[in-house]
Amino acid sequence: MTILVTGGAGFIGSNFVLDWLADPTAEPVVNLDNLTYAGNRANLASLQGDARHSFVHGDICDRALADSLLATHRPRAIVHFAAESHVDRSIHGPGAFMKTNVDGTFTLLEAARAHWGTLAGDAKAAFRFHHVSTDEVYGSLQPGAPAFTEAHPYEPNSPYSASKAASDHLVRAWHHTYGLPVVTTNCSNNYGPYHFPEKLIPLMIVNALAGKPLPVYGDGQQIRDWLYVGDHCSGIRAVLAGGRLGETYNIGGWNEQANIDIVKIVCGLLDELRPDPAGPYARLITYVTDRPGHDRRYAIDARKIERELGWRPAETFATGIRKTVQWYLAHADWVAQVQSGAYRDWVSTNYAARA
Ligand code: NAD
Ligand code: TYD
Repeated sequence: MTILVTGGAGFIGSNFVLDWLADPTAEPVVNLDNLTYAGNRANLASLQGDARHSFVHGDICDRALADSLLATHRPRAIVHFAAESHVDRSIHGPGAFMKTNVDGTFTLLEAARAHWGTLAGDAKAAFRFHHVSTDEVYGSLQPGAPAFTEAHPYEPNSPYSASKAASDHLVRAWHHTYGLPVVTTNCSNNYGPYHFPEKLIPLMIVNALAGKPLPVYGDGQQIRDWLYVGDHCSGIRAVLAGGRLGETYNIGGWNEQANIDIVKIVCGLLDELRPDPAGPYARLITYVTDRPGHDRRYAIDARKIERELGWRPAETFATGIRKTVQWYLAHADWVAQVQSGAYRDWVSTNYAARA
């Protein structure tokens, strides 16, 4: 048996594939990724020569390709990570988000439905379409409001979260209308190795090490619920193995933190692990113009996945962020490789106009 992973060259997808194949008894992985700016085969370099991993360079919007992969490999599950994932990019150019996140998910659902229709018996019963989504579909919480449960209304506020909400609705409808065996997970903000340095935590690490300003949007008091990526991967494995069909499961770290506190923690770890003779890294913190429509607070109530499947995060924020900073310090080559011309263009697009 095989699993088909989409977006497995990105941040979370590559962590998932590496974790999955770390188990010598794990099923092989077919990894479909079209290598956008966020996809990086270097994330998967340790799998070179491992016959259990097949990389396919292609687009999830390509129905003929999806049909042919499903017919050839007959996977028992599709784990769907592929997406445009950065809120700031969705503000500058929402089109790619609609294409990949909405149309791409629709294409995969249709391919999965056709494939599932050809299965019988145990193979049909075992098949799963696991949709990987985000807590951002629930919108923004007031201070002190209860954390998002799975019953929270969908109130997406950015083009990114609206496109993910649309994809979640498609997945739900394909279950209710066609009976497709789906599960959906809605996870909070991840951090860890191979995180592309356009997102808050890796951006702060790479900018600090380069002596560049650390751009904090608005007042820096926006709250996110941070989860180590390895814990997200174990949560997905738990839901894939035991989640109830048609259900959604929130995955979170029980770790609400204001952005400015995250930046200060990262600076403190760098002061300890790679002190800068010029002074503490926090001197580089610079408040800049806020993100339009910026959600103030996300927080996940992860009791359902714990109650039904016994999942809880293994890392605390203190252990996970230390591992993460150490990983970036040990992988200067990876950091240099991802800071291509296109990356520098993005930094200039996103930050040049922020006062
Ligand atoms: P990422 O941007 O790092 O990686 C996305 C991957 O998808 C890349 O490898 C890219 O090449 C690939 N891809 C994009 N468009 C494609 C297409 N049309 N066809 C094939 N491949 C395509 O994203 P990530 O942070 O790893 O997020 C993975 C998933 O998890 C996304 O669905 C995202 O919405 C969700 N998620 C992310 C977070 C987070 O904190 N990063 C939190 C919760 C949920
Ligand atoms: P990000 O990593 O882009 O994730 P998301 O928007 O999906 O939560 O941003 C996390 C938080 O950090 C968010 O509140 C925006 C903020 N932020 C900054 O303050 N400065 C930055 O340069 C970036 C990229 C994000």
